[in-house]
Amino acid sequence: MRNQSISLFSLFSSILHLFLVLNFYGGVTVNGDIVSNLCENVTRVDPTQNYDFCVSSLEANPLSKTSDIFGLGVISIELCSNNATYIHTYIDGILKDGKPEPERARTCLQECVDLYSDASEEVQTAMKAFKGKDYETTSRILYGAAINANTCKIGFTELGVDFSPLKKQDYDIYQLTGISLSIIRIILG
Ligand SMILES: *[C@@H]1O[C@H](CO)[C@@H](O)[C@H](O)[C@H]1NC(C)=O
Ligand SMILES: *[C@@H]1O[C@H](CO)[C@@H](O)[C@H](O)[C@H]1NC(C)=O
Repeated sequence: MRNQSISLFSLFSSILHLFLVLNFYGGVTVNGDIVSNLCENVTRVDPTQNYDFCVSSLEANPLSKTSDIFGLGVISIELCSNNATYIHTYIDGILKDGKPEPERARTCLQECVDLYSDASEEVQTAMKAFKGKDYETTSRILYGAAINANTCKIGFTELGVDFSPLKKQDYDIYQLTGISLSIIRIILG
């Protein structure tokens, strides 16, 4: 009898806990609706996109919750721009450190520095074009930036470096440009 009432109590508190958790996430979901809705559309337009990556990337900017699709486009291009600039600095850091791992990756990294420095400049131009609703120019530039990231990645594969020191960075920028490109396709309908 005593055991039973303890387990009833713990059942009750589990239900209460579950309710609070659902309520909490429910609240977040309501605000985040536009983002999850958009990311569903993004994965539909481009099945290589990762839904969770899309949501967490856009939600990192608190303005995403109150933005329309155009505003989300600006946010996603901003992410591309910040990432490209960051990667450029990051590679510079590895090269200046003097010890890329493995050492023969140095040539690739030197090539990647240039690729990302172009990308970060070009993405600024893409942002201006997007704000001016010149979607064709925006797409062309972002596509070029994605190709650059991919060229950087391929460099390591060709060299036979199994684990590129930029694996995560190349992946991020590739996904981020993909989100922006998908948003443009969604806007154009
Ligand atoms: C997502 O797609 C649906 C169906 O086409 C559309 O009604 C909705 O407005 C889209 N939402 C966003 C944020 O793109
Ligand atoms: C680059 O994008 C990734 C994925 O959204 C994010 O986690 C990271 O913070 C971004 N980096 C910068 C410098 O914006």
